[in-house]
Amino acid sequence: MNTEPNVPEIPQSTRPSNAVLVVGAGYVGLTTAVCLASLGNFVVCVDNDKSKISSILSGVLPIYEPGLLDLLNTTVNEHKLSFSTDLIEHSKSAEYVFLCLPTPALEDGTSDLSYIFQVVDEISPYLSDDVIIVNKSTVPLNTASQIRKRQSNPSVGVVSNPEFLREGSAVNDFLQPSRIVIGSDSPIIAQRVANLYIGLQDRIYFTDPISAECIKYMSNGFLAMKISFINEAARFCDAVGADIIDVAGGLALDPRIGSAFLNPGPGWGGSCFPKDTSALAATARYMGSPMLLIEESIRANNSHQTDIAKLVVELVNRISEDHPKIAVLGLSFKANTDDIRVSPALKILHLIAQRTHNIQIHSYDPMAKQDETLDFVRSQSLELAIDGADIVVVFTEWDEIAEASPQLFAERMRGNTIVDTRYLYSKDQFQKFNLNVISVGKN
Ligand code: UDX
Ligand code: UDX
Repeated sequence: MNTEPNVPEIPQSTRPSNAVLVVGAGYVGLTTAVCLASLGNFVVCVDNDKSKISSILSGVLPIYEPGLLDLLNTTVNEHKLSFSTDLIEHSKSAEYVFLCLPTPALEDGTSDLSYIFQVVDEISPYLSDDVIIVNKSTVPLNTASQIRKRQSNPSVGVVSNPEFLREGSAVNDFLQPSRIVIGSDSPIIAQRVANLYIGLQDRIYFTDPISAECIKYMSNGFLAMKISFINEAARFCDAVGADIIDVAGGLALDPRIGSAFLNPGPGWGGSCFPKDTSALAATARYMGSPMLLIEESIRANNSHQTDIAKLVVELVNRISEDHPKIAVLGLSFKANTDDIRVSPALKILHLIAQRTHNIQIHSYDPMAKQDETLDFVRSQSLELAIDGADIVVVFTEWDEIAEASPQLFAERMRGNTIVDTRYLYSKDQFQKFNLNVISVGKN
């Protein structure tokens, strides 16, 4: 199978400097490869999933990321970016090797580094002198030095350069970063990696490898904690009759607090926050300095999602119909991504399914990947999903879902209850259509 694009291979002798190999063509690797190429570097992106590479080469990206396909096409046409499955071949000519490999959470919460070490051990014998291995993946503290120790060639450098890409805005986050953290014990090596971020020098933040790994974990930990805080505040508002949207708005006016990541919702999910908070909590406890706030943020997030499931179950139990129909709007873990990994929608649906029987679930999501773990109908449109529904539950803040009118729900639903976990709908507006919108803390 032709896995190489039909672009002329650049003879090794004339390969210009900044020859970058990106290993892993997932949400992080693909964005990293395309954006580094768009900055002017020469990038080869390798993945061991042949179907993924051939799909990319045929112009079909394995992930949805706004703006990524256009930028990919531009950089491939400029011969700045190519794709391959031949890891060894391209490690021979690389000057920089970016690791964008999975670091899934293990049972005890720590990270599985087997993919990272397997790739590092495979390519190390072929790396030229002075190559720099750049670790993008979120890894436990001290991984950079472990990778260093596995090198047979002492001139190979290792740098921690954690990613801060939000899915759905990854291209923008890469090209307009708040900071580019480069963790290295050698200023020369650190500067060489910094030079790849052509035009973004003012965003570079130098530190040592462990501190760089720490910045990544603490960033995600703090953001997750902030969301857990506002979700608990929403429950408190319910208890005292305050309005969480007004409260959050008032908090956000304090520049020390700010509005970002202060939106109540169905709890946080995705492929990073859950994995990184549990890894941080596990590492902290292992090191004898537990991060109690992170541990509590995880617990608060789990209990928030359980409470939402219980709320829906209570509503289902009030329905006299034999087979109540629940319409679920949104499955991806947040809007503007197709990613359903650790999606709150799926987690809460599992909790609901454990506590009910005979309910029929019809779901709609404009983009989410298929989920095999749950038995429910994937409707082709929002209208079909809500047709005859006794209850509607909104999990993801897609524009299409936010813009659905009260008339539409009133015309198509059998019941009149909408559990809006994303605070998209006006209770007053919907009440005019005899629709009862329930959002935690919205009073
Ligand atoms: C991953 C980690 O999950 C995240 O913590 C880290 O910050 C960056 O890398 P993501 O890009 O979302 O994030 O992972 P995923 O979408 O699963 O992509 C990983 C890619 O690596 C997959 O395409 C997989 O096929 C590829 N891979 C995996 C290899 O090419 N070689 C391997 O040995 C293992
Ligand atoms: C996150 C970090 O933001 C990013 O810097 C890091 O590199 C990877 O992990 P991502 O996982 O793509 O990015 O999603 P993010 O936008 O951070 O949202 C995480 C979760 O928090 C989602 O479930 C989202 O719905 C939820 N969230 C976010 C809220 O509930 N309220 C908010 O105000 C913001």
